[in-house]
Formats: sequence, structure tokens, C-alpha cells
Amino acid sequence: MGISVGLVGLGAFGNCFAPLFKSHPLVDRVALCDQEPDKLRFWAEKPSFRDKFNPRDAFAEFDDILKSDIEALVIITQHWLHAPMSVRAMEAGKHVYCAVPLITVPDADEVLDWCEKVVRTAERTGQLFMFGETTCFRPQAMYCRRRAAEGAFGDFVYAEGEYFHDVDHGLREVKAHRLASRSGKEHARQLEEYERRGIVSGPMMYPTHSTSGPLWVMKTRAMKVSALPFETRLHKDYCGKEPSNETALYLLANGAHMRICEYREIGHPGREMFRIYGNKGSFEHDTWCDKKGATKLTQDEMRDPLPPEVIEAFKGWRKLAAPDPSKLSAKELEDFLGGHGGSHSYLVHEFVDAVAHGRRPAVTAWDAARFTAAGAAAHKSALRDGEWLNIPDWGGPPGA
Ligand SMILES: NC(=O)c1ccc[n+]([C@@H]2O[C@H](COP(=O)([O-])OP(=O)(O)OC[C@H]3O[C@@H](n4cnc5c(N)ncnc54)[C@H](O)[C@@H]3O)[C@@H](O)[C@H]2O)c1
Repeated sequence: MGISVGLVGLGAFGNCFAPLFKSHPLVDRVALCDQEPDKLRFWAEKPSFRDKFNPRDAFAEFDDILKSDIEALVIITQHWLHAPMSVRAMEAGKHVYCAVPLITVPDADEVLDWCEKVVRTAERTGQLFMFGETTCFRPQAMYCRRRAAEGAFGDFVYAEGEYFHDVDHGLREVKAHRLASRSGKEHARQLEEYERRGIVSGPMMYPTHSTSGPLWVMKTRAMKVSALPFETRLHKDYCGKEPSNETALYLLANGAHMRICEYREIGHPGREMFRIYGNKGSFEHDTWCDKKGATKLTQDEMRDPLPPEVIEAFKGWRKLAAPDPSKLSAKELEDFLGGHGGSHSYLVHEFVDAVAHGRRPAVTAWDAARFTAAGAAAHKSALRDGEWLNIPDWGGPPGA
């Protein structure tokens, strides 16, 4: 007997996941939820969804799917909604898959409060919570987790991670798109209120692509941070008073040091990646290094296997998602693992398998809080000229 999954937020990113959740062999029933009628219709009317979707399971309001008997909700709404919706879902007795980051609002203290609320709600309710951080399921992260489990790094010495995404690479359009819906317009009004209060945001408020890799592989947390801001020169129209870049240095609980860059102004095609160094072995640029030499790895060598029946079920997801499948190239149809280094398929499988077997999913509420809080604290430090700040700890299993 499979599980029932409700997909909440069927926008640009939710659309990448809808066909994967629907196709997973352990999912028997799919519900759909979006406030925008056209988004809901896109999937509700798909003939390929008929085997697992009943029109009674289409919800225009989050409150209504909370009252339904669906077991697990996949929350891929805009980033300012993730934590509040996750808390409400767990309180309503649902297991939760939450897109990253845990929350982005301009006020770093509010972000830290939400980290605490999500962790405490997961503990109190006992509902399963998984954080959908794509970096944790990139081939590089899977490989490094295996090497770390073998002890091949020795003691960790240093790590670095970055999310380079220049504003000119589509960010203006993404922001306008996310603010255009009903929920987006509500948020635009809230942003004016933060501005009136003099709250200044920054790129470290969307930190999880860069912080998660090192913390996840090393199964540790960041204890202290000092960060510096870079005042925008090219993107004043987008950044306003916010720094376009923030660079942070951390002391980790395992004694290693970590450097994280969140850059929105950089002459670079874009990257979300990490490098990790130990006193016996290291990983950088898809290469394992030790004192004897360096070995370049392929994506397939780095990836963990997925069960064959899951691979089979996911084949052709692009065809399911496309408005006009006949226009897809053979390569596009073949590329079935999904985006962000193939991580989408792994994220979906991990969550569904965990709920179906009643086990704690990889990337927990505590991990979500650790990845997110490292950024919020760095932003606070950057606004205080690099003052060293302690980062709150909410306990829990480290990168279980
Ligand atoms: N690598 C990654 O992990 C990655 C990449 C891209 C986006 N994301 C995350 O995915 C999220 C979604 O991005 P997007 O581009 O799909 O945004 P989007 O604006 O296209 O979609 C969000 C959808 O949520 C719906 N929604 C909002 N509030 C709702 C409510 N109360 N009830 C029902 N539906 C509601 C909106 O109507 C909208 O359709 C972002 O928050 C972003 O942080 C993560």
C-alpha cells in the first residue's frame, strides 16, 4: 500500500517535482493545491495524472488541503512561506517536504525564530520533516558522504562553498514572477513594511545552497561567524540598500573552518558547489585528492544508485511535464533524473520512501535550521562590520 501526497505550490519549481512525485511507485494518490487556478488546472487536466489523481483532491486553498486526509504535503510555495506553512502542516498531522530555504524574510532575527519554531514543531508533533536542499543530493555530496563515512577525509580541516548567481542571470525576472501571484502581491506589501522599519536584507538570507554541502558532508554545525558585505556597484536597481555579496568565515563544531560566499554581483556563469579538505584526504572540483595524488571522478562514479523500479518510473518525467511533449528532443527525454545535478529524483525518492516506511528522512528539520541559521547569523555580522557572532543551536541529530 502506497502513500498519499499533496503538492502545494505548482509554480515554476513545483512543476519540476509534480511528475516525479506522481510517478513514484510508492505513491498511490496525489492531491494538488495552488491558489492560482491556471496552475492547478495544468496538472488536474493532464490525462497522465488520472491514475493517481481524483478531481476531488484539487484544492485552491491551503486551509482545505490541511483538513483533508492526505498524509504528506510537499510545500514548494515562495520562499517567504515555507516555514509558516510547514509548521501549520505538521500541526495538522501532515508529514512535510519543504523547499529551500526554510524562510527568507528581510529580518535575520525573524528567520532565526522560524528555525526554532520548525524544529520544535517537528519534535512536538513527531511528524516527519524533510528539507528539499538540492545540494545534498548532488553527485558530489553523495560521494563525499560515502568517503566521510569511511573516514577517508581524516579530521576535517577546512571547507568552502558558494552560490554565485549574478542578478543579470534572470534574477530580476524570477523576483517579478514570484511577486506576481496572489501570495506574491501580499508579500510585496509586507516588504514595504520591513523597509519602513529600516530592515536591510542581503544574499545570506538565501544561504542553503552554499552552507548545506560542507555542513551536510561533515555532519556538523556552524558555531561562530564573521562576515563582510560588498556594496553593489552594478545592481542598485535590484539590491537597493542591500549588499549584493556577503562573504563569511565560520568556526564549526568539529573544529574545522568554513568560508561561504553568497554573491549576486559576479562576472561568472553561476555555481552552487563546495570543496572539503581533511588531514588525510580532500575533495575539490570532482576530484578526490590525498597525499599520493588526485583522481578525477565521473558523475556516475559519484552518484548513489536509485532503485531500478524508481528509475523506470521516473523515465519520461519531462514528457509528463511538457505542455507539448512532441517538441522534446531525445536528449531531453533521456535526462530523467531532473535538475540541479540530478538531485530532484533523489529528493523525491528519499521523502516518499521515508514516509512509506515511517523512518526519519535524510535532511531533517535540525539540518534545515543549521543551514538557514548559518546564513542569517552571517548577515547580522555583515551588517555589524564583521563582528564575531554565536550561531544558535537547536540540538538534534547532526546530518543523520
Ligand atoms: N535549487 C533549489 O532548491 C530551488 C530552485 C528554485 C526554486 N526553489 C524554491 O522553490 C520555491 C518556489 O519557486 P517558484 O519559482 O516555483 O515560485 P512560483 O511563484 O512560480 O510558485 C509558487 C506557487 O506557490 C503558490 N502558492 C503560494 N501560496 C499558496 C497558498 N497559500 N496555497 C496554495 N498555493 C500557494 C503560488 O500561487 C505559486 O503558484 C521558491 O521559494 C524557491 O526558494 C528552490
